[in-house]
Amino acid sequence: MMEMITLPYKYNDFSFISEETMKNHYEILYKGYVNNYNRAFLDLRKAREENDYINIKALEKNLAFQGAGAVLHQLFFENISPIKKPIDQILTNKINEDFGSFEAFKNQFINNITNIEGSGWGILGYSKMLDKLIILQVEKHQDQTIWDFVPLLVIDIWEHAYYLDYKTKKKEYINDIFNYINWAIVKERYKNEG
Ligand SMILES: [Fe+2]
Repeated sequence: MMEMITLPYKYNDFSFISEETMKNHYEILYKGYVNNYNRAFLDLRKAREENDYINIKALEKNLAFQGAGAVLHQLFFENISPIKKPIDQILTNKINEDFGSFEAFKNQFINNITNIEGSGWGILGYSKMLDKLIILQVEKHQDQTIWDFVPLLVIDIWEHAYYLDYKTKKKEYINDIFNYINWAIVKERYKNEG
């Protein structure tokens, strides 16, 4: 069973995201994914017990959709922080190596996420096979397909994450949240892989 993380900050700790947005995001959206992910495992267990696989396609699709949503939300909530947690030298060096400079990385990351069609996620991840940081644009999170890609930094760009506060000013939200990335967590995730 997957359990929800407890947020290490309060709903109203971010000056640029309203309490209502954070509350809905955590208590409705994220909670829904976690509950449905756990339910999907129960549905699959029932199918195994009854040897009834007539709905296996729907069950597997639902498992991937809910599971990806639950995991990405956990990563997202963990990798933002109302207190600035600056990037360290190890990760800066790796970003410089793979993107040319931190500014070039930031520019690509922000443009990438701004240009996601509709809902999705901007993700900085690490490919162990290439020993390389890669930015992905994930529109359908159940279809994320670079199998050795480990997400290090995840930004939610579904409308529920910003629309109440930013309406159509998606880029402003991204620029603001970019300043509140918990780089300590991102580095920790990278260190565990690199
Ligand atoms: Fe979300």
